[in-house]
Amino acid sequence: MIKTYYSDKNIRLFNGDVIEILNALPDECVDLIFADPPYNLSNGGFTCHAGKRVSVNKGKWDKSRGTAEDFEFHYNWIAACRRVLKPSGTLWISGTYHSIYACGFALQKQDWHLINDICWFKPNAAPNLSCRMFTASHETLLWAKKDKKAKHCFNYQLVKNGDWDSDFIKKPNKQMRSVWAITTPKNSEKKYGKHPTQKPEELLRRIILACTAENDIVLDPFCGSATTGVVALKYNRKFAGIDAEKEYLDNIAIPRINDIIQRDDLFELHQEDTLKISENKAEYSLLP
Ligand SMILES: C[S@@+](CC[C@H](N)C(=O)[O-])C[C@H]1O[C@@H](n2cnc3c(N)ncnc32)[C@H](O)[C@@H]1O
Repeated sequence: MIKTYYSDKNIRLFNGDVIEILNALPDECVDLIFADPPYNLSNGGFTCHAGKRVSVNKGKWDKSRGTAEDFEFHYNWIAACRRVLKPSGTLWISGTYHSIYACGFALQKQDWHLINDICWFKPNAAPNLSCRMFTASHETLLWAKKDKKAKHCFNYQLVKNGDWDSDFIKKPNKQMRSVWAITTPKNSEKKYGKHPTQKPEELLRRIILACTAENDIVLDPFCGSATTGVVALKYNRKFAGIDAEKEYLDNIAIPRINDIIQRDDLFELHQEDTLKISENKAEYSLLP
């Protein structure tokens, strides 16, 4: 039995542990999962922000518990996602070298089919302070499906011919390659405060438009400031998000979602009740 923490037409937010909540969802109920799990990098290092030396620590939730335990965590949430993903659905995972190999190995062990790995290049990444290594300026995104033979959604024409003008690597009307140049979140995306690992809306716009149709259900099991939810709603998709920290949901995610919901000019709200949720698990369904 799980309670929704926040709900409105086309959206449900859940507060709690990712595994507990995923285990309460029905089988094969979502079309796309975008997961931005802990990177396990908050171990006392330093980075540069606005010209100043600042701690890299993101929060207790991001601390590494050692290679074996970190792998077990990633293995378990990925397995829980596998059950709730439709056969035609796809899973995206973002990470840096601290976490992405563990996630990739978990995918391999669970027989997922890897469709692409994307290099998300950040042209405005923070400089390196030690001057003893290359400046970290990318993250890796893994894109996978449950079965090699499954027919997954890829909106080829839109990806090739769409408006991706802010990416200097993407040439108009040419196929999109697997290196994407997208800057870190704009100030307007942080008006309710900044989540320590907030993703840019442009990154989610690309993924959601490429891999879903209108009305599809998008799940983000580590939704933080709900970047995925904001973009899903903007483009007429439905959204379910999970996060363990109430603070992020209350202070950033819900105000951002409310801004979108109130902007009727941005999209047509669908009339049908699409995400039918009951407090009783037996009746609980995330309906398409
Ligand atoms: C890398 S951040 C995601 C940021 C998000 N993509 C955004 O744009 O704001 C990971 C999130 O996972 C949450 N988290 C960490 N461990 C969790 C767990 N066991 N269950 C649920 N949420 C968890 C954290 O609170 C954090 O907000």
